[in-house]
Amino acid sequence: MAGNARILIVDQDLETKADLEKGLNRADIVVVGTAGYGAEALTLASELRPSAVVVGVEEPLPRALQTVESLADMLPNSPILVYSSLSDSDSARKAVVAGACDYLTKPLTVEDIATAVKRALVQQERRRALQNGGDTSELKGAGMIITVFGAKGGIGKTTVSTNLATALCSINAGSAVLVDVDTVFGDTAMMLDVPMEMSLIEAVNRAHDLNRDNISDYLTRHQSGVHVLPAPFEPMDWRSVDTAAVDKVLTLLAQTHDFVLVDCPATLTDLVAVALEKATVVLLLTSLDITSVKDTTTALKLLKAGISDDEKIRIVVNHATGADSVTEGDVSKVLRREVFWSIPHDSEIAASAQLGTPAVIDRPYSRVSRAIRDLAATLAGVEIQHSTNGHTNGDRAQAGLLTKLFGR
Ligand SMILES: Nc1ncnc2c1ncn2[C@@H]1O[C@H](COP(=O)(O)OP(=O)(O)OP(=O)(O)O)[C@@H](O)[C@H]1O
Ligand SMILES: [Mg+2]
Repeated sequence: MAGNARILIVDQDLETKADLEKGLNRADIVVVGTAGYGAEALTLASELRPSAVVVGVEEPLPRALQTVESLADMLPNSPILVYSSLSDSDSARKAVVAGACDYLTKPLTVEDIATAVKRALVQQERRRALQNGGDTSELKGAGMIITVFGAKGGIGKTTVSTNLATALCSINAGSAVLVDVDTVFGDTAMMLDVPMEMSLIEAVNRAHDLNRDNISDYLTRHQSGVHVLPAPFEPMDWRSVDTAAVDKVLTLLAQTHDFVLVDCPATLTDLVAVALEKATVVLLLTSLDITSVKDTTTALKLLKAGISDDEKIRIVVNHATGADSVTEGDVSKVLRREVFWSIPHDSEIAASAQLGTPAVIDRPYSRVSRAIRDLAATLAGVEIQHSTNGHTNGDRAQAGLLTKLFGR
């Protein structure tokens, strides 16, 4: 998608235009032209028919906004993105009223603009497909897709995804479904002790006639209320799985559940790529040993290059082993990202997994369970009150927190 993007840059400042052009080209976005405000911008837009336009808007606003408005009228199917040093809400509102679909405030990196352009183009393409009578399964689900990924085996991806799904149900945040896309070593069904009747592969094989009504036939209900779509029972070659079908399954689940948790293997397979791209949030897990941090650094680089919106990646430190060789501060420094969440070590957690009961049910007052319940509440935008004995009370999600965290 971004590889086909043809962008027009409109800015009065020659140096900014040149820097942005160089940077966007490096980000695999083809800049077909650059122009100043007014007639020059409109003439080039009419000749080049770019797939998106980025406009630098500065004082005096009226001329810049007039250009945005004229471009939006001329190119109704091309997103117009504005960047500006004006961070007040009034300027942003005026730009949106003029026809901008996004308003980015300086200081900005070229990557910020590239990410915003790619996101706008993905949205535009989806809407165009729908207008052209596309399958309604292309509609984005209302549910949130939370993809749990980590670059190393055994760092707690399945532990976190199963417990997080269970916690979302236990705090009444909404309905949750857990999907295992580890087609070789998937073990969510075992961790939750649910019967293995249907798996992701049965759903994928029937993708052509799957819909919102019959997707539930493929799900198994755990006693916590979590629905589970386990990995195939027989290990299979992930390269043979139709990724478009997996995409459809995830979309339908997001249309029928409030939360879709995707448990990934430690390798970047085609299926993982789908789960990462479709995610509302990616929880990128790392433990605190040097090899895990090194692998997470590589994974973060690959994810930033491979998915259209890397802002959705959140670093989660899971103290999977008792012995930490680096600190969370080190992780943050090396990855150049804040640690979003931290899950403490609990040597008893393995016993819960052996019993097929997630720790948040089996050991609800443990520090791990509290950390995961709090994570669930934060992601869902639900407030929970911890009483002194560790009990929690959940309320149905109040919109707001999610928006603050992820801007969605
Ligand atoms: N916070 C924690 N404290 C103590 N033990 C933990 C913690 N998180 C995970 N573990 C333990 O680490 C082991 C590996 O966990 P898990 O199977 O969830 O890892 P994974 O990343 O899904 O592994 P794989 O890559 O093989 O799928 C399990 O025995 C689990 O009980
Ligand atoms: Mg696992």
